[in-house]
Amino acid sequence: MLMSPEQIGRFLRDGYLVCPDVVGEDLLGRLKDRAAQIVDAFDPDQVRSVFSARDGDQHADQYFLESGQAIRCFLEQEALGPDGQLTVPKAQAINKIGHALHDRDEAFQELSEVAGFVSMARQLGLARPREIQSMYIFKPPRIGGEVCWHQDATFLYTDPVTVIGFWIALDDATIENGCLWAVPGGHRSELKRRYFRTFDERLADFEELSDTPFETASETPLEVSAGSLVLLHGLLPHASKPNRSGLTREAYSVHVIDGDAHYPADNWLSLA
Ligand code: FE2
Repeated sequence: MLMSPEQIGRFLRDGYLVCPDVVGEDLLGRLKDRAAQIVDAFDPDQVRSVFSARDGDQHADQYFLESGQAIRCFLEQEALGPDGQLTVPKAQAINKIGHALHDRDEAFQELSEVAGFVSMARQLGLARPREIQSMYIFKPPRIGGEVCWHQDATFLYTDPVTVIGFWIALDDATIENGCLWAVPGGHRSELKRRYFRTFDERLADFEELSDTPFETASETPLEVSAGSLVLLHGLLPHASKPNRSGLTREAYSVHVIDGDAHYPADNWLSLA
């Protein structure tokens, strides 16, 4: 997508940009069908890996850490009862699919081309944009978990920070079903923490880089219609609240970094 100077200016000012009508209904439908097929083929009895970003204390296991070049399903925390059994049907129990749909699945490759994530990243100043991670996020009705305030550069760090998030709404995202929230201009603050591999039994941990908490008084809901694209600067504080509604709130995100920036070997996601 060719961005106007006005759009680029808004992204640089606010740290995010909403672009409506980027993906048509036909492709949206195919992406949803493809995700449903992947979930259908997933056997939750073999893997009990929960993904939760609720309390900022992200749990890591080998299944997660080895998913950088794979297509894997992660369960919603509230989908598991105390006995370890699913409390909802499998199709409503998934938190996300990660983390290489952009690289390994045709429908999602097509989306990258149609939307032009790499081209937009170049227009925003990345010299050698590279898609390195993708997630299909379900945030299922009633049990879709909260994602606490964070900066994407915490998880996809480069020196200097270059990561840009491209977030596509596959359903209308509203306050009711748990849309994104952001702090306009918040990308001008420093990186608060970095998630890294410890190469010991902890597997991964956070390095605290700042003791100043996120300033979220001006938090703004990003309510968007299905097919919209939201661009997120890597230092922008953003979050989403739980989905307690009966509505789906599916989304798909791709993260792009500048291949010319230094990518530390202890980032959780190893580049192939
Ligand atoms: Fe994020």
